Amino acid sequence: MQGHIENMKTKVFVALDTASIDEAKLWVDQLGPVNPRFKIGLELFVSAGPRFVEEIAKKYEIFLDLKFHDIPNTVAGAARSAARLGVHYFNIHCSGGVRMLSETRNALDQLTGLSRKPKLLGVTVLTSLADEDLLQIGFTKSASAQVKTWVELAEQCGLDGVVCAASEIPLVKSLVKEPKFETMVPGIRLDANQTQDQRRVETPEQAAKLGANSIVLGRAITKAEKPSELLQEVVRKLENLS
Ligand code: C5P
Repeated sequence: MQGHIENMKTKVFVALDTASIDEAKLWVDQLGPVNPRFKIGLELFVSAGPRFVEEIAKKYEIFLDLKFHDIPNTVAGAARSAARLGVHYFNIHCSGGVRMLSETRNALDQLTGLSRKPKLLGVTVLTSLADEDLLQIGFTKSASAQVKTWVELAEQCGLDGVVCAASEIPLVKSLVKEPKFETMVPGIRLDANQTQDQRRVETPEQAAKLGANSIVLGRAITKAEKPSELLQEVVRKLENLS
């Protein structure tokens, strides 16, 4: 990895959101030299499978974004499998409840024989949901009040951090006692007016200024005309902030 990227305060993960393994490999080859961190989500994982993840995790820092949500025993098992792939981060839904969060934490703590243990992140409120969407699905709290509840649970259960919107970073930082507790922030737009299906969005610089440990950049980079130039620009701007 390049030294200047190592020193960067806010890490950038590019979301490899495609079903095509060839396209994903092309993005990795083009963007890896600029920024060696990628996020693999449902679309690529379902299409390319765990061996693909394992292969690129040998060379790059990978956030496996599968958002597990099931009974505690199942999620703990899935967590063990994710850890064995060699990824750096993966996530589970905070809404799975305290037993699901704690049993997953324990499952990871008890794993032996791995060169690295991944960081366990809790998904709070998806950045695609606004207060009115939450009401529709039966949540009566605002997005930020719901985030507060789930951040507290995540810390209580020993998670390493949460996935949240940029606007919620100050709230998260004010709630947690553990200084190493991380924020992973999707919903990032180079132009904050281009929301697409996201609702709670922010620019990379603003997310970094708010203290994001990591940001996720998807379509803003992968759908750009010149993805690697644009990514280089983002990385440079973030570097200048730190
Ligand atoms: O293209 P865009 O930048 O909106 O992609 C955001 C990525 O982050 C997607 O892969 C999406 O699945 C993911 N994500 C998210 N909101 C979360 C967690 C992950 O948008 N709360």
